[in-house]
Amino acid sequence: MTRTRFSELSKPASPVLIAGAGGMLAWDLNRTFSDLVGQQSTIALSRAELDIANPESVEAAFQIYQPKVVINAAAYTQVDKAETERDLALAGNCTGPALLAEACRRRGIAFVHYSTDQVFDGSLGRPQREDDRPNPLNWYAGSKLEGEKKVLTYDQSLVFRVQWLYGEKKDRFSPLRQKEVFSPFADQFGAPTWTKEIAEITAEMLSKKESGLFHLSYDDYASWADVFDFVKQTWKLQLKLEPQITAKLNLPAKRPLFSVLSNAKLSSVLGRSMGSWKKPLGEFLQRVGARN
Ligand SMILES: NC(=O)c1ccc[n+]([C@@H]2O[C@H](COP(=O)([O-])OP(=O)(O)OC[C@H]3O[C@@H](n4cnc5c(N)ncnc54)[C@H](OP(=O)(O)O)[C@@H]3O)[C@@H](O)[C@H]2O)c1
Repeated sequence: MTRTRFSELSKPASPVLIAGAGGMLAWDLNRTFSDLVGQQSTIALSRAELDIANPESVEAAFQIYQPKVVINAAAYTQVDKAETERDLALAGNCTGPALLAEACRRRGIAFVHYSTDQVFDGSLGRPQREDDRPNPLNWYAGSKLEGEKKVLTYDQSLVFRVQWLYGEKKDRFSPLRQKEVFSPFADQFGAPTWTKEIAEITAEMLSKKESGLFHLSYDDYASWADVFDFVKQTWKLQLKLEPQITAKLNLPAKRPLFSVLSNAKLSSVLGRSMGSWKKPLGEFLQRVGARN
């Protein structure tokens, strides 16, 4: 990965403020930006320190820290619970991002936000582009779509749609070592995405002063069953995989099945291909596996 030149953000008086500390993506954002601009210039605030859906809390954080860049990793992410906690989902995924974007607009500073592949219904049958028409199938996705629309009214906003995150903060693969049987979805297609890679690309795109909507994904895709088989093979686990169909679980929130994101726009701006999802996942499994 190309190392980002970060001269402007490396001034001590140019803090990067990360909302949603405690979350999976925020963990890697904090680590990556601390490496790039220094720990003193990287401020990661938990919900107790910055409630993005509370206007007074947002204003206080901006007053105290005087950020020059704001990255929002906070979100309401419980897809099934959102069906019944509709107001909470809207507060975290729409009101909060809109308040942060507005506070950034008033100060003329860059704002980064993350959305989801689930804004699409998956019916296109080909990788979905930024200009394809969204059609959310569940409340969580609807609240994320409303949030990204509000955020994108500010022209210094950078919004990444991402999917199937994994990272060291909430490692979804290591628990497999204790299982004898596991049933991944065979009919959901996408690409697992390492939060470390999202953090590094966020930094790279900020240094290029990019704005607008981007799909952050890989050049290929797989089913969850393929992904877990890759993990099983890489770690040589004695695990029995029994793939299942999504509909069988009767989950409260409907999910898109073919949820693949086209990364053509991002690749063209970065000037390189994103490669296969297998490469970063292999690296992650080696890193995490070495500790177990
Ligand atoms: N995980 C995925 O597979 C996935 C897929 C597609 C898109 N995304 C998007 O990627 C981004 C990062 O996701 P993630 O997996 O890192 O999420 P996560 O691990 O669930 O972290 C979200 C964090 O936001 C906090 N939060 C919720 N409401 C808040 C509020 N009002 N004010 C401040 N903090 C608040 C949560 O705190 P509490 O714990 O206190 O609630 C939690 O620490 C989100 O925008 C998400 O929608 C994720």
